[in-house]
Amino acid sequence: MGSTHRHALIVGSSDGIGLATARQLLSERWRVSGISRSPSPLKHGSYEHSVCDVNSPQYEQELRRVAERAGGLDCVVYCVGIGNDCPPERGTGESAVIDVNLGAAIRTLEFVLPVWTERGSGHFIGLSSLADALHLPDGASYCASKIALSRYLESVGLQVRRYGVAISNVRFGFVDTKMARSDVKPFLIPVDEAARVLREVISERPLRRSYPRRAAAAALLAEVWSRLRVLTTRPLSGGR
Ligand SMILES: NC(=O)c1ccc[n+]([C@@H]2O[C@H](COP(=O)([O-])OP(=O)(O)OC[C@H]3O[C@@H](n4cnc5c(N)ncnc54)[C@H](OP(=O)(O)O)[C@@H]3O)[C@@H](O)[C@H]2O)c1
Repeated sequence: MGSTHRHALIVGSSDGIGLATARQLLSERWRVSGISRSPSPLKHGSYEHSVCDVNSPQYEQELRRVAERAGGLDCVVYCVGIGNDCPPERGTGESAVIDVNLGAAIRTLEFVLPVWTERGSGHFIGLSSLADALHLPDGASYCASKIALSRYLESVGLQVRRYGVAISNVRFGFVDTKMARSDVKPFLIPVDEAARVLREVISERPLRRSYPRRAAAAALLAEVWSRLRVLTTRPLSGGR
């Protein structure tokens, strides 16, 4: 890929990590296409933005349009992710989290993989989370979507690397964006640092990258605690 051909599609580019990553790549003279639910604040000669909800029936069509205008896709960074403000007992919003965080990510891969494996090149980066290691009672759909996304990306990554296609699963700890609303945010990193990590991932193409490392180590311990909690939770009395 000569410098004139470096192009990336960032899905979820109007805010947060996706927006910071678009800025990072544009500063290195990449061409960047962005797809997001909202318009982008970015105004740059090498940036093209499309407003589209990844959960809408138009999404695949938009991917096709972006790919045609870009002369094919080399690198796709899937930065879309949502949580649910409603607790699961309210019975609303949970399935939407799975559809956006997992379903749409898989549909994006389904769109690029046949072309990439035929061509023998391409790189897909999905933003999972260290929350994939935890049981989160008030974030059930979020942690479930992330453990499924991590498992899917890494499994497909093991499958398609034989065609020269790379898939990277990036598991961030807390990043300072509108999504990180928890009162306690240990090891919080600024959004530009997250963008730099993604830039490294684009170059190094790892199957998995967990960042920051200290947070990843803490997540490993938390995972043990989380599993023990489930294993030691007594059955609920009152069964018939
Ligand atoms: N921030 C953290 O602490 C953290 C930690 C670990 C992992 N992550 C993961 O990193 C990714 C990016 O998170 P972030 O913190 O950058 O979140 P963010 O600031 O909320 O940005 C998410 C981006 O996705 C877009 N988006 C959301 N739903 C969409 C939909 N249905 N269709 C199209 N675009 C949609 C948003 O558009 P709008 O501008 O319309 O909102 C925004 O551009 C997510 O997958 C998240 O789970 C974040």
